[in-house]
Amino acid sequence: MPDRRLKRESSGVAPAPVTNVSTLSTRFTTLLGITHPVMQEGLGPYKTVHLAAAVSNAGGLGTVSIPGISEAPAAGARKLRGYIEQACALTERPFAVNIPVGADKHGNVLPFSAAYVGAVVEAVRDREIARRLRVITTSAGPPAAARRLIADSGLVHIHKVGGTRQAVRAAAEGVDMVIASGYEAGGHTHARPVHTFVLGPSVSEAVRCPVILAGGIRDGRGLAAALALGADAVALGTRFVASHDNPDWHPAYAERILRAREGEDIVFQALYGPSRALMSAAIDELAAMEATGSWSEEALTHFKDERLIAAQQAGDMTGGILPCGQIAGALQDLIHVAEFVPGMVRDAIAVLAQVRAHIVTVSPLPG
Ligand SMILES: Cc1cc2nc3c(=O)[nH]c(=O)nc-3n(C[C@H](O)[C@H](O)[C@H](O)COP(=O)(O)O)c2cc1C
Repeated sequence: MPDRRLKRESSGVAPAPVTNVSTLSTRFTTLLGITHPVMQEGLGPYKTVHLAAAVSNAGGLGTVSIPGISEAPAAGARKLRGYIEQACALTERPFAVNIPVGADKHGNVLPFSAAYVGAVVEAVRDREIARRLRVITTSAGPPAAARRLIADSGLVHIHKVGGTRQAVRAAAEGVDMVIASGYEAGGHTHARPVHTFVLGPSVSEAVRCPVILAGGIRDGRGLAAALALGADAVALGTRFVASHDNPDWHPAYAERILRAREGEDIVFQALYGPSRALMSAAIDELAAMEATGSWSEEALTHFKDERLIAAQQAGDMTGGILPCGQIAGALQDLIHVAEFVPGMVRDAIAVLAQVRAHIVTVSPLPG
């Protein structure tokens, strides 16, 4: 059911004024029962509980992200359950949890992914949680193995892809929606670089399920463009990081994003594929470690996880690794999510109307 406010009569007390808002209704909003076709995507290994609740409270779909990957899977799963419960205390509206489902060299889902998926499926056995936690998004690896764990949970399953073939495969495996994420995206990006403008129409044509476009989306213009490319919604990462509603992160992270200039990002090899980050001394250090060939995979994973956390928790902008999208170079200010999400939709509606104004009828050229 769409999230429309009901006007209630109450004796003696004047009813609160109901302000209708214009929005863009798509398969994404109607299937999830939310107001706006705007999603904040997973930003693990960072805590996004307050940000997710802010986006859901603004009428979009917020996403709780996984904690780090270095701790034991059972401990990580307990921490994630805590995040889910915190988010439930902050919003009455639908929200998502994102789990990267990377596979090892042999194609097996990594133990921490299995533990996190298990924690989400277990959490929605609680009816109060299930009322709000409505969506699981998977990313990084193919969804098949995780799909088996999710299929009967009642959760809407959205899988993120970076290519059309992966989208077709995910849809065939039964996911409910796909996120098509272009190469310019922050954090997790893809082995084959396909950009948002190419991916949007290709994926929208190739699958019948709703498509959410991600990668380089900044404001209402991006939303209007995504709808024109055939998508049902947009998902943003970097834009939401630079927000007043992200108190779980050290403020230096958002400040660094706002200082970033166009082209200051780099792609490095993360745990389950390439990841886009801002350049920092930690990225150079990592490259030097990899060049020696003498560090074990485990030690490299530990280094990356530790440095990712150093950026977000201690605000270490030099020794830390800062996942970030190319759009950082275009961002000027911190946003208030409650204004930004509906504002983005209003702007998209205005842009679509402006584009219509370009339509003219002309006489055919002679001859
Ligand atoms: C700090 C940061 C952390 C991220 N962590 C994850 C993650 O844990 N899982 C995931 O699927 N994607 C992750 N991403 C990618 C986002 O979910 C999203 O696809 C991306 O940010 C969209 O592109 P944009 O940054 O241009 O908006 C991360 C992105 C950033 C910026």
